[in-house]
Amino acid sequence: MNNGVNIPCVGFGTWEVEDGQVATDSVRQAISAGYRHIDTAMNYGNEESVGKGIRESGIDRKDLFITTKLWNTDHGYESTKKAFDVSMRKLGLDYLDLYLIHWPNPAMFRTEYQQKNAESWKAMEELYRAGKIRAIGVSNFLPHHLDALLKTAEVIPAVNQIRLFPGYTMDETVQYCRERNILLEAYSPLGRNTILKREALVAIAEKHGKSPAQVCLRWCLQHDYLPLPKSVTPSRIIENTDLFDFTLSEEEMKTLHTLDITGDEWFDPDLADF
Ligand code: A2P
Repeated sequence: MNNGVNIPCVGFGTWEVEDGQVATDSVRQAISAGYRHIDTAMNYGNEESVGKGIRESGIDRKDLFITTKLWNTDHGYESTKKAFDVSMRKLGLDYLDLYLIHWPNPAMFRTEYQQKNAESWKAMEELYRAGKIRAIGVSNFLPHHLDALLKTAEVIPAVNQIRLFPGYTMDETVQYCRERNILLEAYSPLGRNTILKREALVAIAEKHGKSPAQVCLRWCLQHDYLPLPKSVTPSRIIENTDLFDFTLSEEEMKTLHTLDITGDEWFDPDLADF
């Protein structure tokens, strides 16, 4: 990342991973399959179970990279510090690797969201400087949200975690972040399982003897995006790490860029009702 901290190049996503045994087991299985990077969020409602899976893995804390996120109801200086403490308690951790502002523009702060982000960011900068967080960043931020944040930020975000998959390419946000050395993390890198049967994607996968999911994740890596695939299926958890024995051609990358994603809906963070 732009602050010199290393981040494992594939992360295990836990959005909509059911709280309880499912979350604990899948995190433990992911770590046993070789993942060293786990991504959760206060709003996923599974931080405690994720923390349990981390402890059950038996892997040294310092060899793992853990991300969680500040939820919309906690924006503001004091609330951010409190929410951070709650997340840490739930996860059972004494430091965090990456803390993200989950959404730029919560419905409840719509008329003052820029001020709220500035306050949250100040709190996060303090936690970062105090060594409680190794890197701080944002999620779902579009260029205008970042422009506003950067007016008062002293620390440039290390990461912007956005929705990215073949056909859903967020070109302007990607360019903006690249120009400022902000690492792009890709959530829903498999298009939430909606694109994996698309003919063009299946054809590329067959040519390389890989699965469509592996092609999506390889597409991320070749763009220098950090994919966060989610799965609760042990065989898929393993499959989603087996990405380093093939290379997509320029032509295949172009085909994937414009993959047909008809039926998918663009979600505008400025209009979210949460
Ligand atoms: P499951 O968790 O039941 O294994 P995304 O990461 O884009 O949000 O996609 C997650 C969805 O894709 C989940 O429904 C997950 O199902 C499914 N999935 C994850 N890995 C694979 C894979 N390798 N092949 C097919 N589907 C997958």
